[in-house]
Amino acid sequence: MTETGWTLIVHGGAKEIAPDEEQAHRDGCIEAAEVGAAVLRKGGSAIDAVEASIRVLERLPTFNAGYGSALTSEGEVEMCAALMDGETLDVGAVGVIKGVRHPVSVARALLREEHVLLSGPGARVFAEEKGAELCDASSLIIKKQKEELQDTVGAVALDSEGNLAAGTSTGGLSNAHPGRMGDSPLPGCGYYAENGEGAVALSGHGEGLARLMAAGRIMAGLQVKSPENAVRATLEQMERVGGDAGGIALDANGCPGWWHNSPDFAVARIDSTMERPLVWLRKGEDIDAHG
Ligand code: GLY
Repeated sequence: MTETGWTLIVHGGAKEIAPDEEQAHRDGCIEAAEVGAAVLRKGGSAIDAVEASIRVLERLPTFNAGYGSALTSEGEVEMCAALMDGETLDVGAVGVIKGVRHPVSVARALLREEHVLLSGPGARVFAEEKGAELCDASSLIIKKQKEELQDTVGAVALDSEGNLAAGTSTGGLSNAHPGRMGDSPLPGCGYYAENGEGAVALSGHGEGLARLMAAGRIMAGLQVKSPENAVRATLEQMERVGGDAGGIALDANGCPGWWHNSPDFAVARIDSTMERPLVWLRKGEDIDAHG
């Protein structure tokens, strides 16, 4: 296997970021990118880097994933997460899981198993069997619920062996019906990764993204378009189904791109030529002031 450069992009969700939350979004995305980059710099795999980055975002109350997730109409935290390995096409995903600190690591535990997606109490039992960090479901609720519409975090990476990976994690939509799942645990909707093709992770209105099979459209778009244009072309289709969204993508060689139709979409990017990540809160933001 030829050694190539590595690349990682993380995002903190397609949403509106309140002015007093901007720094926390920048800091959180930078930390997530740095933790994932540390894995890749040591020659670690894309799937390990994506998991490590998403664990940071799940730990921070700023993001709608893990601790600080949005609440259902019954006032509970129900989470979804997924990982996909572009080398093997293995998928591990959990839906509507409660009482685990890091849903993405439960998805990781499922990655090499036969099943692709476990949900509800069965997913929690699986987490326990695999020694995942369990917690009281209410301990994931933060005192001050956020006012802005919150959404999914994600990451995509290419490692130095040329393998791609994608991952997502979310508390879902605020006030959703208990048991509701959006795009985030569904391969081809909220994420996809395939070596030689590309990798993508989405955020936003899960029903719209699922109806569009958004990740699948972006993967097809990567055959003929740049990553940014592939994401953009699919998000323009959101008008047909309604809702805001954002997405990050890599092509087969790790060339990155991202786009959003939400007001904001915090993104951090780093590759093997860079010492530190660059971070944006929205497309077109002048990063000289912050990068
Ligand atoms: N995109 C996350 C959700 O709709 O659940």
